[in-house]
Amino acid sequence: MTSNSLPRTVSLRNYTTLRIGGPAELWQVNSIDEIREATVKPFKILGGGSNLLVSDEGVSDRVIKLGQSFSNISAIDGTTDVWIGAATPLPGLVRRAQRQGVSGLEGLFGIPGVVGGAIAMNAGTRFGSIADTLTQVEVFIEGNLCYLSSSELGLAYRTSNLPPNSIVVRARLQLVPSQPQRVARAMASVDEARRGQPKNKSAGCAFKNPPGKAAGFIIDQAGLKGLRVGDAMISHQHGNFIVNLGSATQKDVLELIAQVRSRVEIPLELEWRGWG
Ligand code: FAD
Ligand code: EPU
Repeated sequence: MTSNSLPRTVSLRNYTTLRIGGPAELWQVNSIDEIREATVKPFKILGGGSNLLVSDEGVSDRVIKLGQSFSNISAIDGTTDVWIGAATPLPGLVRRAQRQGVSGLEGLFGIPGVVGGAIAMNAGTRFGSIADTLTQVEVFIEGNLCYLSSSELGLAYRTSNLPPNSIVVRARLQLVPSQPQRVARAMASVDEARRGQPKNKSAGCAFKNPPGKAAGFIIDQAGLKGLRVGDAMISHQHGNFIVNLGSATQKDVLELIAQVRSRVEIPLELEWRGWG
């Protein structure tokens, strides 16, 4: 075992984009053996923390984070059939594909986090999701490494049915040859569609869009922009973004969510994953 994987107590607020979350034992792992060792007790797997609402009390489970050695990219067939380590940051991957002139990931432009988190959430925009290019994953499940095809993952709008306690370690993507300029143009359209999103601390959209509707529109129409509990606030820019103005707590955010839900007609389902 390398010293890297030794557990240390951290504040999860430093590992989430909402900047909320209490203490946890963090295991940064850099090999399958280290994953095996870390997973003998109950655990949670952390990606980039960009879709998580974590308890102010922290979590008692071990929190596992894949280290640098899980961010390799290996080509099977040139630049289009590739294995990507699950800890690879998504934004860098999208930019790299553009530079290489391969298409398939441009719809993910602007989404933070890492490849493992993107698969668990089937991250995407209306221009496409990771399900469009994912063909296979290598997953650690209950002590074993196995391969699952994309169709076995139940990828749908912002969700997957990855078995609980499974850790994606690598993802195989099938990309399509294109040209850097063409991919860049597609990325510019995605960027344009994100113009209305705030730059404050957030975890992206809080709620899934109900079928045929936009949660942001519903919240906006209900006059809830600027609604605030402590330092948690419905963004003035976009109704579906809850932003942390500084020292918001999980409790503030949960109370704000309850107030929103009680003031709109349509049931709104949370997109975020909750820890604790
Ligand atoms: P985390 O938040 O760390 O984890 C999310 C879930 O994935 C957790 O259940 C976690 O246990 C699981 N997980 C993480 N890694 C693994 C792994 N290796 N194996 C198994 N499970 C794993 N999302 C969109 O879909 N579209 C958008 O346009 C979008 N825009 C955003 C904009 C902003 C400013 C922000 C802050 C967020 C946005 N999001 C968006 C939400 C978020 O970025 C995505 O859901 C992202 O894919 C989550 O990845 P992550 O690595 O941060 O995962
Ligand atoms: N709208 C309002 N007021 C608002 C916000 C939005 O009226 O305050 C209206 C817009 O004018 C538009 C409609 O609602 O007519 C939809 O808004 P937008 O174009 O901003 O897209 P969205 O549906 O809110 C979705 C995803 C985003 C993704 C963008 C771009 C969900 C829940 N959200 O947002 O994903 O980045 O499209 O494709 O599906 C995320 O999942 O975290 C996320 C940010």
